[in-house]
Amino acid sequence: MRILVTGGAGFIGSEYVRMLLGAPGSTRPGDPPIEPAAVTVLDKLTYSGNLANLAPVQDDPRLRFVPGDICDAALVDEVVAGHDVIVHFAAESHVDRSIAGAAPFVTTNVLGTQTLLDAALRHGTHRFVHVSTDEVYGSIAEGSWTEDWPLSPNSPYSSAKAGSDLLALAYHRTHGMDVVVTRCSNNYGPYQYPEKVIPLFVTNLLDGGTVPLYGDGGNVRDWLHVHDHCVGIALVQEKGRAGEVYHIGGGTELTNKELTARLLDACGVGWDRVVAVADRKGHDRRYSVDITKISQELGYAPSIDLESGLAGTVRWYRDNRAWWQPLKASSTPAS
Ligand SMILES: NC(=O)c1ccc[n+]([C@@H]2O[C@H](COP(=O)([O-])OP(=O)(O)OC[C@H]3O[C@@H](n4cnc5c(N)ncnc54)[C@H](O)[C@@H]3O)[C@@H](O)[C@H]2O)c1
Repeated sequence: MRILVTGGAGFIGSEYVRMLLGAPGSTRPGDPPIEPAAVTVLDKLTYSGNLANLAPVQDDPRLRFVPGDICDAALVDEVVAGHDVIVHFAAESHVDRSIAGAAPFVTTNVLGTQTLLDAALRHGTHRFVHVSTDEVYGSIAEGSWTEDWPLSPNSPYSSAKAGSDLLALAYHRTHGMDVVVTRCSNNYGPYQYPEKVIPLFVTNLLDGGTVPLYGDGGNVRDWLHVHDHCVGIALVQEKGRAGEVYHIGGGTELTNKELTARLLDACGVGWDRVVAVADRKGHDRRYSVDITKISQELGYAPSIDLESGLAGTVRWYRDNRAWWQPLKASSTPAS
């Protein structure tokens, strides 16, 4: 099987590539047995894309890296040819950046997805896995979303992702393309660009700095280890039904305040390191996905509990300063 992974130099896409190619430390007993003949990564290497994320598999002869933009129709057409499966991660992914400027989100997430779908349709790609987010549903006060819940996104990021989800599903309904959509909760783990809350807080704390806590800290998120997410995607790639949406979650809901307490604890520091900041504009209060469908149909279950997952993540950032220090030194604030 020849697999094209878009955004494979980013946080989640690179974990997927490392898992597919069996990189040491990126596989676990019970992972779905996909043994690809070839894996092509198409990635524009934006601020969050990093070839260092693929270093553990760079010498694998099955890996080919193609630098480029998913909006470049000629390049995409050339790259898509000859692949059996596309797993589409490439996106602008940070809500705060979408509040500061929505244009790249609409361009990459909507037009880029349409460009890929058109190429897949032309080339008869057997399966298109579209990786999306629970944020497309908006916010839920209690209970959990099921896959048939109406979309009601609130940020430019989640609106652009919702647009891409609907396009992907429309190519299934209109053209009969084999498309599956995954929607997951908040991911954490190694190799995450230090702008999202967990790597931002951990690297700030390891550097002796403070961390910014939005609003009253009461926003609730479900935390999913990136490896569990990739296992869920692999199950959907292998066994998901065409035209269906599957949720992937970690089963661990925490308020941002509770998460902050765990990170302070893991770094051995106290609340004096926390600075309250104005809330994010339009901040969704709570996300919660129901994972019954993927559990019952495909046998998915998260295997990494939050306590050991967070401990491993903090350890990884502690041990891999050479990975994140240059990123922090060169990063520009999103807003
Ligand atoms: N991180 C999360 O918690 C989370 C949660 C739900 C869904 N998702 C979704 O998962 C996917 C991956 O997220 P991530 O956290 O790994 O993001 P990321 O920002 O770490 O990685 C995105 C990757 O896409 C590449 N990219 C961006 N624009 C591109 C373009 N125009 N052409 C080609 N490549 C381009 C970047 O260079 C980068 O390598 C996204 O689709 C995101 O919406 C992420």
